[in-house]
Amino acid sequence: MAGIVISGIGIYTPPEAITNEELVDSFNAYVKKFNEEHKNEIEAQKIEPLQESSAEFIAKASGVKNRYVMNKSGILDINRMYPDIPERPNEEMSIQCEMALPAIKEALDNAGKTSEDVDAVIVSCANMQRAYPAISIEIQDALGINGFAFDMLVACSSATFGMQTGIDSIKAGTAECVVMVSPDIMTGHVNFCDRDSHFIFGDACTAVVIEKKDTCKTDTAFEILGSKLQTKFSSNVRNNFGFLNRADESGIGKPDKLFKQNGRKVFKEVVPFVAEHITGHLDELNFKIEDMKRLWLHQANQNMNRLISTKVLGREPEPEETPIILDEYANTVSCGCLIAFKKYQDDFEIGEKGVISSFGAGYSVGSIIVEKIKI
Ligand code: COA
Repeated sequence: MAGIVISGIGIYTPPEAITNEELVDSFNAYVKKFNEEHKNEIEAQKIEPLQESSAEFIAKASGVKNRYVMNKSGILDINRMYPDIPERPNEEMSIQCEMALPAIKEALDNAGKTSEDVDAVIVSCANMQRAYPAISIEIQDALGINGFAFDMLVACSSATFGMQTGIDSIKAGTAECVVMVSPDIMTGHVNFCDRDSHFIFGDACTAVVIEKKDTCKTDTAFEILGSKLQTKFSSNVRNNFGFLNRADESGIGKPDKLFKQNGRKVFKEVVPFVAEHITGHLDELNFKIEDMKRLWLHQANQNMNRLISTKVLGREPEPEETPIILDEYANTVSCGCLIAFKKYQDDFEIGEKGVISSFGAGYSVGSIIVEKIKI
């Protein structure tokens, strides 16, 4: 793997935020309204009354205290309960492209590059707003990038899978400098009427520049020492939304067309899957966990990250060993591990190493082992 580096990284944070308290106030008002409107069915025991949510439960069970969103008013409107994002004419830039541009600009500035230096754009995230043309090709066009672009979807693991694809393109010689970008508007697919999952997600976009060490223009960079992906089928995190929905009208608008999970099972099954994956990857490369200063993990649940880190380290982690950003951002799907990486790397000295790992639906897990180097 020697010779490929992450030379730049950028984050786009949406302008609007929702605290747990705001989210719960609106959810509980929705519950009250629903139960009043369905009073007769509830009394006749035809349906169960909805239960209220609690900001304390959310913070304790997940660690989330706040989330940034592309639209706040629609989510908090109890007569709507989903974002209000108007469709745009084909001549206008799409919202995912719009989110991607500032993240890419920051990543390119960070890398000392311009779009002229880039020859491939990969959009890797959990949801695309349309089937085609690819969002990545729209971004390529907006930035005037030559070469090629394509989209890929790997849910919460999209960051490491996208980076692996960029690394593979550079290794194969099909590209020299790749931008991998993850504009995730997960709130578009959250069921804000579902008490078990209404609090989990937020929106964000991250972008990374991956290139050969030879072309890198910065003083320091993170060299990629190894990358490894793994998948194992499970329906415990599932979303049945898709182009075939219209072929069976009975399913349109049903809750299974939004994010749905069996949270307890996901927690129990994904923790060992990820811990064993990271440990196995380190073993393969003859690294010891003591060689790693930090684990930049996917940000779904604070307790989950602590457990994974404890398994990998063989002891309780110190907070700086496995930084948490989900308290502020919630689960931003593909973006979490890279937001953590960007925000918690300034203290790295030359020669210090760490692991970036994303994991989630599929199940899927990816790990990228990096070392800070002088160019
Ligand atoms: N407010 C108040 N109480 C709530 C609640 C809410 N919003 N949601 C659930 N509860 C209650 C439940 O009714 C249950 O009550 P009971 O014990 O009286 O039956 C209790 O809290 C525990 O519910 P449970 O769903 O088992 O919670 P949990 O401890 O498993 O936490 C998650 C829920 C979602 C935070 C947790 O399972 C999780 O993070 N799982 C992994 C998620 C993940 O990584 N997904 C990947 C997505 S990419």
